[in-house]
Amino acid sequence: MNSAPNAPSSPKTAPPSVIPVMLPDVSLRARNSFGFDVLAEQAYSITDAEHIGAVMEAIKAANLPWRVLGGGSNVVLPPTLSGVTLLMDIAGQAITQQDERGAVVSVGAGVNWHDFVIWTLDHSLPGLENLALIPGTVGAAPIQNIGAYGVEVGEYIQSIEAYDCHSKTLVNLLASECAFTYRNSIFKAHPNRYIITRVHFYLPAAWSPRLRYADLAAAFVNRHVPTAEEVMVAVCKIRNRKLPDPKLIGNAGSFFQNPIVEKAQYLALLKQFPELVSYPEGNEQEGKRKLAAGWMIDHCGFKGLRAGAVGVYQHQALVLVNHGGGSADSVLALAKTIQDKVQDTFGVTLAIEPIRY
Ligand code: EPU
Repeated sequence: MNSAPNAPSSPKTAPPSVIPVMLPDVSLRARNSFGFDVLAEQAYSITDAEHIGAVMEAIKAANLPWRVLGGGSNVVLPPTLSGVTLLMDIAGQAITQQDERGAVVSVGAGVNWHDFVIWTLDHSLPGLENLALIPGTVGAAPIQNIGAYGVEVGEYIQSIEAYDCHSKTLVNLLASECAFTYRNSIFKAHPNRYIITRVHFYLPAAWSPRLRYADLAAAFVNRHVPTAEEVMVAVCKIRNRKLPDPKLIGNAGSFFQNPIVEKAQYLALLKQFPELVSYPEGNEQEGKRKLAAGWMIDHCGFKGLRAGAVGVYQHQALVLVNHGGGSADSVLALAKTIQDKVQDTFGVTLAIEPIRY
């Protein structure tokens, strides 16, 4: 992989003398936003990218399965995570370059996403405000190319520092090499190749609010052009209204992706379901449509349904919740019921959004 020509270098740290301590039997109940009871057989807290090589060598020598966990807000974890779980805890954020055109901000993969968005606004660096209040960490954001209210994080990423498990070195991938598309990237497509350690954002100085989404635009009708802070506050209000706070009720945000269908299928569906909510997708000639999965699930009557300890959130049918005592099996069983019904009703396959282990 190329190195970004103008990529900022990571802050220098002293070379590690020892591999971090292996932690046995770590409860991840507070580290998965569903709040499932999960035990990691072995865990390492990764606070420095330079430690990863030694940890990976140890994992390879013991021939153990492994995965990385950020904030645990987009995962469905089983009761026992066998092998090794790397807890991504690399901290720190700094403006590493700035001129009249914009700023490069370099952020550790373990930094909380929303705290980082607030930090950018506190430093007069607008751009990420539409993505406020998305749970999770900075290092997890590029994996599924998080998006909300017409903005995707990939648009603001300059490059990504990652440990490459093939070359066993830290590499710097340009955004153009990360294949960002709707809720997808090379990191999601090849889960065991790269371990994201640091994200370099580029925030242009030229800014105007992005209010294409009706919900957000509605917050500012007949008003002055809002500031980035005002947009951030409005986004937080909408999210708080529609989405459950994982601290109060376990969830992983949208449980399904919004399916993208061909024009002909969309037109046939629209005839049958004139109320169907959808959005244009990709270039206009192709005429592909992104269908609102939440609307379809709601139409099938699932909103607010309870299935034992788990259920469908009462204010947003795209979100599955853990009322307490749920597990990966119970939420996946509910997901299957929903997928089957949507398939029967609309002939559309819903893909699960969180990563399953
Ligand atoms: N709708 C219903 N019933 C429902 C849910 C939605 O009729 O129960 C309708 C809404 O009225 C609206 C449409 O479906 O007309 C779309 O709903 P909404 O605006 O809430 O957005 P979404 O498509 O459900 C997506 C993202 C969210 C993101 C919002 C806002 C995906 C899978 N989800 O949700 O992202 O916050 O748009 O941009 O793309 C996440 O990924 O975890 C997430 C929360």
